[in-house]
Amino acid sequence: MSARLRVGVVGCGLIGRRRAIEAGASPHTECAAVADRVAAAANEAAAVSGAEATDDWRRVVERPDLDAIVVATPNGYLAEIAIAALSAGKHVLVEKPMGRNVAEAERIRAAACAAGRVLKVGFNHRYHPAIAEAWRRVTDGGIGEVINLHCRYGHGGRPGYEREWRGSRALAGGGELIDQGVHVVDLLHWFVGVPHEAFAVLQTAVWPLGDLEDNAFGLFRFPSGAVAALHTSLTVWKNQFGFDVYGHTGAVTVQGLGGSYGVETLNVYRRRLEGGAPERETHAFDGPDESWRLEWEDFVRALDGGEGMLGTADDGVAAMRMVDALYRSAAAGAVVEV
Ligand SMILES: NC(=O)c1ccc[n+]([C@@H]2O[C@H](COP(=O)([O-])OP(=O)(O)OC[C@H]3O[C@@H](n4cnc5c(N)ncnc54)[C@H](O)[C@@H]3O)[C@@H](O)[C@H]2O)c1
Repeated sequence: MSARLRVGVVGCGLIGRRRAIEAGASPHTECAAVADRVAAAANEAAAVSGAEATDDWRRVVERPDLDAIVVATPNGYLAEIAIAALSAGKHVLVEKPMGRNVAEAERIRAAACAAGRVLKVGFNHRYHPAIAEAWRRVTDGGIGEVINLHCRYGHGGRPGYEREWRGSRALAGGGELIDQGVHVVDLLHWFVGVPHEAFAVLQTAVWPLGDLEDNAFGLFRFPSGAVAALHTSLTVWKNQFGFDVYGHTGAVTVQGLGGSYGVETLNVYRRRLEGGAPERETHAFDGPDESWRLEWEDFVRALDGGEGMLGTADDGVAAMRMVDALYRSAAAGAVVEV
């Protein structure tokens, strides 16, 4: 790749600022423009990335000198801004969950196809080292045929959450399931494909979120016979992440994501045919979180014509279909088709 690609970032909160820093730090990209409806947020992102700031996202999306746009606004604006950027001929990295529902995700995918531009969905968990290594072990056949998977993801919420954008159906599209839950749903899809059946139970147990859930329990059944169970929660008080895959000849378990989620640790177990405790291999990844940089590099490789990018438009739509199936199941109180 010769010249540095020029990037614009729309939405300069926690994630947009992080993306702006990655874009500015990469040898292949520069962060040229940032937009946030709150001018102070745009200015702050500009200060850490060297970009020009504006409070109007259209002025970034329409700039002819930009190659790619990151969309990191609340979910309710992701589709409108991503589609406008794609239609203006930009490549786009849109944050998870790719809009508020299946229809928005499909509209984003259609806009990317029509424009012939790269569309990546921000599923940074795929780049966490323990998860990536677990995926390699499972797909290399290291634990035999997958029997079932078990995932937990959550934190303790916070007072006033109901007044944040995540506490609004119009801005978020759902509660904890579409927020953190979409990451575990994406991992399930990555590890074992698209399920055919789903069942879910939602709770609003503690936080005054109206009709949005603070806990979601989901079950999926996959055509292979594999079963997955997930629990995603705003009431676990101590941040937690766990992702376990059990196969006929072994298991992989991931705990932690670094920081407040604890040291990211992978255990690989190999069952002994004679019974007894399995063989165990443990890898602890206690360095800084590199997932954002690795995800950015993957996006940049794809812009340069590289193949095999993770977090494609199809992945985003699949994850949204799985989330949607869980919501439909919870509403119906019944097993539904995905
Ligand atoms: N990949 C991940 O792990 C991950 C983690 C957290 C959030 N996210 C996603 O990133 C997105 C942003 O989340 P966040 O935690 O950074 O939220 P945030 O509230 O910290 O930031 C959102 C920013 O968008 C700005 N904004 C709102 N409407 C806008 C508009 N129309 N135009 C321009 N700017 C606008 C807000 O002023 C705010 O600064 C969401 O889609 C969220 O789901 C992804």
